Amino acid sequence: MAQTSLLQGKRFYCRDWVFHKIQHCLQEKTAGPPPPGPAPGPAPSAGPPPTGPPPSSSTSTPKPGAPWGVLLVGGPGSGKTAVATELLWPTSPQSTQRGLHRHALAFHFCRADDAHTLSLGGFVRGLVAQLGSGGLLPGYEEAVREPEVQSALQPGECERNPSDAFKRCVLLPLLSVRPPQQAVFLLVDSVDEGCQLGDKEHKSPPGSPRTIAELLASHHEFFPPWLLLVCSARRQNKAITKLFTVSSVSSGDLVKL
Ligand SMILES: Nc1ncnc2c1ncn2[C@@H]1O[C@H](COP(=O)(O)OP(=O)(O)OP(=O)(O)O)[C@@H](O)[C@H]1O
Ligand SMILES: [Mg+2]
Repeated sequence: MAQTSLLQGKRFYCRDWVFHKIQHCLQEKTAGPPPPGPAPGPAPSAGPPPTGPPPSSSTSTPKPGAPWGVLLVGGPGSGKTAVATELLWPTSPQSTQRGLHRHALAFHFCRADDAHTLSLGGFVRGLVAQLGSGGLLPGYEEAVREPEVQSALQPGECERNPSDAFKRCVLLPLLSVRPPQQAVFLLVDSVDEGCQLGDKEHKSPPGSPRTIAELLASHHEFFPPWLLLVCSARRQNKAITKLFTVSSVSSGDLVKL
């Protein structure tokens, strides 16, 4: 199950500019008609891609240099989780934030006091469940029905090799389905949680990503161009900096709260 926000239902005030910023980033990613030819971007190599409908050539492509993601940075209690919650479950009558939740593809709230929310296997499984049920990506459910995709998702297997599970069950299916008409976002709140743990506390095999930030950072170049990553963190660290610096032409936007 997706790890959700404890602030859901709490009234939210102000911060309109943050929502305008995210809206602008989504618009930049939903630019004009696509160039002729195959969809841009390399595909990760995790064996044969799952079958499914071919990528559409009629959907839009982002403007060159469109931001790859948005990182909300702010100290403890600065309102990061409140913004993330309002993005998904708006309480304010402001029209910007009221409309943005329709662009939410999936979310994950990390919490230091709940190890389940920091588990890479749980993160991948939560994404898969949401991607299949949200209705924004017709064809995704079919793409993950393949036996080799399902085997990567099995408890134990997913924990042993979260990178493989993330590639097979999230990235490759996302790259294989018809892109949505408008850009959508994946929200990860407190993406820096777990990064401060030492090697001993992490159970993942050597060389494998140990945190959600590392998992995302090691695959960010394979994200579909129509997907905006929205993360929050108290501070930046190596994995987060890597995650939000994709290339010199397309990097993440930093929003300080
Ligand atoms: N714009 C807002 N309107 C109403 N309440 C808010 C707003 N921003 C923050 N709050 C409230 O302030 C408290 C702290 O906010 P929040 O938990 O979002 O901080 P945070 O930046 O996520 O902190 P942490 O770094 O500890 O995760 C919460 O009770 C939240 O509901
Ligand atoms: Mg928080």
